[in-house]
Amino acid sequence: MSAEKAIEAIQLTKRFGDFTAVNQVSFEIPRGEIFGLLGPNGAGKTTTIRMLCGILEPTAGEARVMGYDVAKHAEEVKQRIGYMSQKFSLYDDLTVYENLGFYANLYGVPREKLKPRLAELIAMAGLRGHEKQLTRDLSGAWRQRLALACAIVHEPPMLFLDEPTAGVDPVSRREFWEMIYQLAGQGVSVLATTHYMDEAEFCNVIGMMYRSRLIALSDPDSLREGVIGVLFEVDCQEPGRAELVLKDLPLVQDVAAHGVLLHVQVASEKQRAELEQTLQSNGIVVERIERILPSLEDIFVSLVDHENRQHKRADKD
Ligand SMILES: Nc1ncnc2c1ncn2[C@@H]1O[C@H](COP(=O)(O)OP(=O)(O)OP(=O)(O)O)[C@@H](O)[C@H]1O
Ligand SMILES: [Mg+2]
Repeated sequence: MSAEKAIEAIQLTKRFGDFTAVNQVSFEIPRGEIFGLLGPNGAGKTTTIRMLCGILEPTAGEARVMGYDVAKHAEEVKQRIGYMSQKFSLYDDLTVYENLGFYANLYGVPREKLKPRLAELIAMAGLRGHEKQLTRDLSGAWRQRLALACAIVHEPPMLFLDEPTAGVDPVSRREFWEMIYQLAGQGVSVLATTHYMDEAEFCNVIGMMYRSRLIALSDPDSLREGVIGVLFEVDCQEPGRAELVLKDLPLVQDVAAHGVLLHVQVASEKQRAELEQTLQSNGIVVERIERILPSLEDIFVSLVDHENRQHKRADKD
């Protein structure tokens, strides 16, 4: 067991009856890192978080959070984590201050620390002047910041955020991530789930989850560089015809039109010349072929395609 790790999950699995919601998921997160768990609806993100928080018992496999086994030492785990659930558990009929006070009591914040801690959180969340406002009257972005403040009222070293920015406008999302950065800068480890691929850029490590499995685990740059071969942007005349020509080429894994440009995916940098020659021999004038980095969204789609093909193959066998 390593004290350096915020989370260690080994073959973590959860079955509900015949259905496997989380299938042999393994990963490690060093302390102080921001780990982003991406994946479509139903991929198993929330179920993974609930196991790591000690709320849901794993069916198989194991996990340690801040050094404590989630199945054997759920209480120790709970004392060391903050959890912002997918449907923020705020009390609508309480004021901003009362919600914070409620969570402070729940988490056992000592009486003498209560006032300064709540003042600090209200300042951090930008809620000064709104302490007496009823929570039901807050906008989405403010509710989100209050929910975060409630989740960290007891200064946990590990924070779980389940789709914290769902339904929030882009500017508020950015502000929210700045708060997360500040916390990480203070040494807090963070696991956050999101549907927004652009938010993955804010994370040190990304896990992509699909159909209950972790299909990729890496830092964003390595993911972009390694996972799906090489992506070329092709600027040529007659892009429509070029697309058809390239689609038939065995070395081409994927072609997609982006305006008048084509994005062409191949296995290696060496195939640039062959692309160019093929287009030219078909009478298409090539202006430029440039290697570009795929977006995380491209990568996710490509990994999912790969996973689906494997699935189909396995079904046939
Ligand atoms: N208590 C439960 N009993 C039966 N099935 C469940 C239970 N909890 C979750 N599931 C199923 O497990 C799968 C994974 O659910 P989970 O909530 O973990 O997904 P998710 O990745 O968080 O999705 P979303 O992005 O929609 O929040 C889903 O098919 C869901 O219906
Ligand atoms: Mg979920």
